Amino acid sequence: MAIQRLLSLFFLLISSLPLLAQSRSDTNHVYSPCADAKVQKSDGFSFGIAFSSRTSFFLNSSVQLSPCDKRLSLSSANSQLAVFRPRVDEISLLTINTTNFFPDSYGGYMVAFAGRKYAARSLPAFVANNTFTVTSFTLVLEFKKGRLENLYWKRDGCSSCSGNSNFVCLNDQDCAIRTNNCKNRGGNVDCSLGIQLTFSGTDKHESVFNSWFEVKNLRQYSLYGLYSNLRSSLTDQYNKFF
Ligand SMILES: *[C@@H]1O[C@H](CO)[C@@H](O)[C@H](O)[C@H]1NC(C)=O
Ligand SMILES: *[C@@H]1O[C@H](CO)[C@@H](O)[C@H](O)[C@H]1NC(C)=O
Ligand SMILES: *[C@@H]1O[C@H](CO)[C@@H](O)[C@H](O)[C@H]1NC(C)=O
Repeated sequence: MAIQRLLSLFFLLISSLPLLAQSRSDTNHVYSPCADAKVQKSDGFSFGIAFSSRTSFFLNSSVQLSPCDKRLSLSSANSQLAVFRPRVDEISLLTINTTNFFPDSYGGYMVAFAGRKYAARSLPAFVANNTFTVTSFTLVLEFKKGRLENLYWKRDGCSSCSGNSNFVCLNDQDCAIRTNNCKNRGGNVDCSLGIQLTFSGTDKHESVFNSWFEVKNLRQYSLYGLYSNLRSSLTDQYNKFF
């Protein structure tokens, strides 16, 4: 495992929605995000999110490798790792509390990844620098016959923050808050990161994951609204823009 320290994090699941109710058995015994797993519906699936500078995810400034790949030597770089184990085919909202963790002091970018022989990694996503902090992300985990094939950040072109003066739209894709509005940075907004997860593709029995479809339908409200305990801490402060 490349990087060791775990962030303090919450992992929340919507288990009460009837459309998501299903059996609770987890038959996947692969727990490391740097090992290969083949999953079926209702399994847990481990993946990691590494925080570092954009360049540290590339070998020789050209080839992006998985953070598990020792050639990147992320462990000796300025980096942090969060590991999550959501259930596949359930919509989840992951949060990373930034009270004591400032993503910009670890290079400001993150990459989601899993697997070794079948390694998949997302492109690096900008999280924060001294000036701007992006707090809301959607990550799609795409499976084929139960193996993770692809991880990508789904963006909505700033539609969730257009017209809200508390936000700046970066590169026509990310809604950002000014970092000096964040708690412990001079302001009072909780800039904890929220990552909505969705699963697409097929499990090892070729049964179709459908949470992506559900997220598209839910998107008009955004999942944050479904987490009453997070709503007050993460969203009310933004003038109800979700
Ligand atoms: C890395 O880059 C240098 C200079 O651009 C080049 O000479 C070298 O062959 C590259 N190494 C790899 C492994 O790509
Ligand atoms: C982050 O942690 C702080 C201190 O423990 C807490 O007050 C805050 O509500 C947490 N934020 C979220 C989004 O959970
Ligand atoms: C912070 O990031 C934004 C968006 O990527 C960029 O436009 C800006 O120049 C950066 N500022 C600093 C001080 O690096």
